[in-house]
Amino acid sequence: MDTPILTAPNSPAARDIAYHFHPATNARRHEQIGPMIIERGAGVYVYDDQGKEYIEGLAGLWSVAVGFGEERLVRAAAEQMRKLPYYHSFAHKSHPTVIDLAERLVTMAPSGLAKAQFTNSGSEANDTAIKLIWYYNNALGRPQKKKIISRQRAYHGITIASASLTGLPWNHRDFDLPLPNFIHVSCPHYWRFASPGESEDAFATRLAEELEETLLKEGPETVAAFVGEPVMGAGGVIVPPRGYWDKVQAVLRKYDVLLVADEVINGFGRTGRMFACETFDIVPDILILSKQITSSYMPLAVVMITDAIYQAVADNTARIGTFGHGFTASGHPVAMAVALENLKIMDERRLVDHAAAMSVPFIAGLRSFASHPLVGEARGIGLIGAIELVADKATKAPFPKPGTGLHLAESCHDHGLILRPIGDIIAFCPPLTINETEIAEMFRRFSRALDDTTAWIAGGSA
Ligand SMILES: Cc1ncc(COP(=O)(O)O)c(C=O)c1O
Repeated sequence: MDTPILTAPNSPAARDIAYHFHPATNARRHEQIGPMIIERGAGVYVYDDQGKEYIEGLAGLWSVAVGFGEERLVRAAAEQMRKLPYYHSFAHKSHPTVIDLAERLVTMAPSGLAKAQFTNSGSEANDTAIKLIWYYNNALGRPQKKKIISRQRAYHGITIASASLTGLPWNHRDFDLPLPNFIHVSCPHYWRFASPGESEDAFATRLAEELEETLLKEGPETVAAFVGEPVMGAGGVIVPPRGYWDKVQAVLRKYDVLLVADEVINGFGRTGRMFACETFDIVPDILILSKQITSSYMPLAVVMITDAIYQAVADNTARIGTFGHGFTASGHPVAMAVALENLKIMDERRLVDHAAAMSVPFIAGLRSFASHPLVGEARGIGLIGAIELVADKATKAPFPKPGTGLHLAESCHDHGLILRPIGDIIAFCPPLTINETEIAEMFRRFSRALDDTTAWIAGGSA
């Protein structure tokens, strides 16, 4: 049982407990422990309402690429607000910033992606992709080709279709999800799921074979698309084994199944290249982007499609009169302006190259914990990584009771570091601007929290 916090009546914490129903939170526990109230940020640091400093080791929710307190983004938003605070994209309307950003994205995205449509969130973007795929297959006269394959431990969001793509039990349970015709194949986590003695290549081959068997069992004429994060994020930061994406893409091509690359976390430098599709030689039919595109200073996501998809869909809009899908804020001018300025900053400061360079001390820092008795695996790529805690290093057995990861994350708070616990996996995903000194400090703080958790377990609490 957590110790209840003492909140002064009418304090921000008391009002948060009284009025704010938090997403992705245990509501009863929240009533006990109250909120952590973050008031401001600067660079890789945020500060709570007591003035305590934290390194934001997850860049908010995997998203604040250029760091906190970037005045240029503030100015870009204010200038756009003054000039044209709102306009929309329905029924042939447009405005200069949405045109500029669509052009910029098509120019910089992996080749073959010809058009961009905008949404407010990654979940909406994935729902848009699913609806687009269904519309596309109807347009092509193959109404039976509708099933979607994703993977266990995938995270694609929480709206009804995107949550159905997600392969995490807590996003399904008691929401009556996933929807029918959403199929989940195995998670490509070599360390956790490879058979004894199986090589990375053999594991990747086995997963590609499983995908092919699933397709044949369902009937390839009924399967429309495979959706995947090149590197899985919120499911525990899972970097696929070498060769995995080549083998998966060969199967998809063989059965005419579209590939949707969800780069909501991976995109814009996170893996050390501009897009993870470049890191893994993925040629997507649809690319989903969000988060770092505006450094999350404004909500924005993007669905990019190939010309082949666009042409079939465009013909159908002419046939039935419209593409009957879109949001009030699709292509919101302020989000467009912030994204354009954010991408300009990333270019001028060569942030993708910086992320690739900082990946060296970052991955070395993660790996330095690999020999710790509580650590089963320390993994990562670019500036995203995770440490997975185990009760038994040799057998990889997890802790019998939940709570070890949460305890470690809360010890990190004590030591001035914010990370993300995913069960007993602790995720790292700092702002792309992080430097070598800050990386060293982040791991120093983590090390102290790990010592505290080791003592807590030794005291019989885990
Ligand atoms: C890979 C991926 N896809 C989709 C989403 C959903 O995005 P949003 O929370 O903006 O709806 C997330 C969110 O973390 C994500 O990591």
